Amino acid sequence: MPRQLVLFGRPLPRLSSRHLSLLLVSISLFAIFSLLFTLPSSIPSSPSLHQIATDHKLPSLPLPSIPDSLKNPWNKVNPFKQPAHAPPRQKNDTYGQSSWYANWKWLSYPFSSSVTLDESRSLLPELAQRPPVYVYYDNTIEREKATKEVESDILLSWRRAWWAMGFKPIILSPAEAMNNPLYEELQHMSDGLHASLKTDIMRWLAWENMGGGILAHYLLFPMGAYDDPLLGYLRRGEFPGLTRWEGLGDGLFVGGKKEVEKAIKAVLGSAKEGLREAKGFLDAVPVSKKEKEEEKEGPFIVDDTEPSALAFYSASALKGYPKVAETIGGDRVAGLKALNDLINAHLHQTWQNLFSEGIAVVKPLPQHTTHMIAPSYSVALRLASCPANNPLPSSCPPNRPKCTPCSTATHPLKISTPAHYKNSSALYTIGTVPHPYTIQSLSAMRSQITVPWIRRESIRDAWVGDLMVDLFKNKPVPSSARVLRFKEAVAGEYGSARSLWLTAERDVPEGILDWHFGFDLPQLLPATAGQEEKHDDATEKIESEIHKPKDSSILPPLHDEKEGPVPTEQDLKLEPNLLSLAKTIVGSADEEEAKKKKVHVTAEEVKIREAVEAWNLADWEAWRFARAFLVEGKSMMS
Ligand SMILES: *[C@@H]1O[C@H](CO)[C@@H](O)[C@H](O)[C@H]1NC(C)=O
Ligand SMILES: *[C@@H]1O[C@H](CO)[C@@H](O)[C@H](O)[C@H]1NC(C)=O
Repeated sequence: MPRQLVLFGRPLPRLSSRHLSLLLVSISLFAIFSLLFTLPSSIPSSPSLHQIATDHKLPSLPLPSIPDSLKNPWNKVNPFKQPAHAPPRQKNDTYGQSSWYANWKWLSYPFSSSVTLDESRSLLPELAQRPPVYVYYDNTIEREKATKEVESDILLSWRRAWWAMGFKPIILSPAEAMNNPLYEELQHMSDGLHASLKTDIMRWLAWENMGGGILAHYLLFPMGAYDDPLLGYLRRGEFPGLTRWEGLGDGLFVGGKKEVEKAIKAVLGSAKEGLREAKGFLDAVPVSKKEKEEEKEGPFIVDDTEPSALAFYSASALKGYPKVAETIGGDRVAGLKALNDLINAHLHQTWQNLFSEGIAVVKPLPQHTTHMIAPSYSVALRLASCPANNPLPSSCPPNRPKCTPCSTATHPLKISTPAHYKNSSALYTIGTVPHPYTIQSLSAMRSQITVPWIRRESIRDAWVGDLMVDLFKNKPVPSSARVLRFKEAVAGEYGSARSLWLTAERDVPEGILDWHFGFDLPQLLPATAGQEEKHDDATEKIESEIHKPKDSSILPPLHDEKEGPVPTEQDLKLEPNLLSLAKTIVGSADEEEAKKKKVHVTAEEVKIREAVEAWNLADWEAWRFARAFLVEGKSMMS
């Protein structure tokens, strides 16, 4: 008789040998499956199972239309697996055809659908909260139309510049000030006050009403690197006390609601005599005689470091630009317009100085993508050109006296079209991300691609592979690892401040560009002949050397041979038609747009597109990620 098995003092039910072997088999099966299905997902940079299967060219083509969650039923029973349910929808996570899920784990999973369980939803980094930066503008004052227009132009420049640096610019008006309970008090005493002091107190009341934070003058512009320490400090939005900067006068204040309120009360409560003479809030802040020597006392912490990334066009700074200052003195509207143009030119010039290595319009698979990158190349040309209406072309911004003024003749910004992405702090990258169908049909050089061609001849994930090849020193790595680095380059804090990624099938989103860079991008081809005269020799040379492709963007000069094979004249001629066909077929995935533009594609074309997507998961992921990232910023802007 077999021995009774005992576990923790309890007899175990007796097992027959048949039971026992069944149990053993089940255990080993479980072990094998757990190993198989937990390993890939628990190592973040390793490819997903799906990817492993396809990378080894298993014979069957994965069915594209079935979501991953169904294809891989083990998700449901595997206790170590990530989410069982699709993550909750977030606020405002859809815009047009893109939707996303923002999460801090975005850099742990190469393929979004393993987290979002939805092929059309991209996993994006949680967008950093944009801290508000406030400006006060009294919109109740009667103004002439021209004045109103030029003032709102300046406010637009101000908002754009702050937005580009990661802030949420907000314009406050007397309405916010009147909401403040302290407004009543101001009403009672306002008779004897200087009008400018009253306006200034209103500005503070409005600010306090918003809960404090950052209060900036409308002529204070962030003008420096995105990762400048002071801008980073402002973006974090945590302020130890009410602070102002020695060199900025009333240009910038930061502080919490309580300290702001205290300062306002101190001003309102100070002796009326002193208030009569004061012309601004800072004059009115009570400072007892003893404390006068020690500036640090009183309601403010005074920071005496030079804020090198903030340009303040205050009245005293404008003395350095006499031509503009004199115009303001004579004709205010014309003067403010000149000032706005000057500020815009300084913002642009500062950007050019920061990216001294120039602009890289990346061009992976260069043999086939000359037309594809043309729109991005045009954006680069605009960035590299100088604003035509700069009233003082050789001047420097107030905060950067040692700048290099913009000149396409003496300091042209270099534009290159390298095949591979290079991570360098002074190089700006503009990418053109193609849908896998687009890039495959361009590489095939034929309009009809077939499933056998995709499976036997096409190079899988060719685009992201070629783009990221330098980062891995030509070592073979799975394309999932490349996608992760790609995402870091697009959306990481370091990468996003140094790059712009457009999708190849859509027009350049004009509305986004100015906000992305923080200044007005010059137009390349002036419509009127009069403006053309202003162009200097270098620009003229650029423009005469190239011929224009259909969509008004400019064709980049052909690349060097060491970047990859140079296309033949004949291949170049084929590109535009292939590209436009690919745009139609890729566009058909976007049902709304397809309806609007009345595009028609056949069922066969849709099938091929889906097969290409399934066969090139990394390229497809990169394309959807870039598209969603571009659009996510836009949705926050509106
Ligand atoms: C989404 O965004 C719009 C406009 O920006 C806003 O009015 C709306 O409240 C937002 N919805 C949610 C749920 O936050
Ligand atoms: C580029 O380099 C910076 C710092 O040197 C790093 O933080 C960043 O992650 C790199 N980006 C990529 C895509 O590798």
